[in-house]
Amino acid sequence: MIREPAAMTRPVVLVSGATSGIGRATALAFARQGARLMLGGRDAARGEAVVAACRAEGAEATFLAGDLAEAGTATALVDAAIACWGRLDIAFNNAGWQEPQGSLVDRDLAVLDRVFAINLRSVAEAMQAQIRVMRQRDGGRAGGGVIVNDASVSGVRNPYPGFAIYAASKAALLSLTRSLAIEHAPRGIRINAVSPGRIETPMMAGAGVADYATIAATLPARRMGRPEDVAAAVLWLASDAAGFVIGQNLCVDGGFLAG
Ligand SMILES: NC(=O)c1ccc[n+]([C@@H]2O[C@H](COP(=O)([O-])OP(=O)(O)OC[C@H]3O[C@@H](n4cnc5c(N)ncnc54)[C@H](O)[C@@H]3O)[C@@H](O)[C@H]2O)c1
Repeated sequence: MIREPAAMTRPVVLVSGATSGIGRATALAFARQGARLMLGGRDAARGEAVVAACRAEGAEATFLAGDLAEAGTATALVDAAIACWGRLDIAFNNAGWQEPQGSLVDRDLAVLDRVFAINLRSVAEAMQAQIRVMRQRDGGRAGGGVIVNDASVSGVRNPYPGFAIYAASKAALLSLTRSLAIEHAPRGIRINAVSPGRIETPMMAGAGVADYATIAATLPARRMGRPEDVAAAVLWLASDAAGFVIGQNLCVDGGFLAG
């Protein structure tokens, strides 16, 4: 059977939350490999800037704006990839939101609903749409594809008071990742998570837990992570080199969880 070699050398890659931080760095890393990119995010102007940067690397790229807190947005991103290229090879479900620091006890639980809508429900919806497409590859005879979810070390162990909801959402995402990984591995769909530690991005700057130098001093690596550190892990998980890696959580944390 012909396995579309030309397409596979230029995989169709979906990245949500591609307008900044880890998502932007990962989109650019895939672009350098010649991927065809469907990028999602909220801000159209910033999205188009990332598209231009990807095209400058020689890649094809398209951006779709949408709020993942709203049902249907995650599915629309998958539909757009299919409309553009007729297939989806790799999905990086990266977009996420962290509540402003504060105790759950003093919160309006609408905050919990929003965090879970973005960090869990939208990824569940995304995986539903992605797997439906991936399992139909080659007319349903072969299946195949890769999904990487962006969780967090906070989903494993949360050192910072005031982010209980975010940590719970990421713990749930890790569980969802493992469950769907074992369900769909027999069809050649590999699903894993990456868990960033303390990475220098707009989200980290907005969290206000401490200054970067103070955080870096607590890490075995003695430096903050960079978005490119996480992008490299995502590209490896998406590659054939990780072909026997299923349902795992790859922590990119400068040694944080090991300590
Ligand atoms: N930076 C860190 O230290 C760190 C640590 C652990 C996990 N993470 C995870 O990494 C992922 C990327 O975060 P980042 O650090 O690059 O932050 P970031 O703020 O730079 O990027 C977040 C991205 O998600 C998008 N996004 C957020 N809410 C959205 C919504 N409602 N609809 C659509 N898009 C939305 C943003 O537009 C942006 O593109 C997140 O899932 C985050 O939880 C980050």
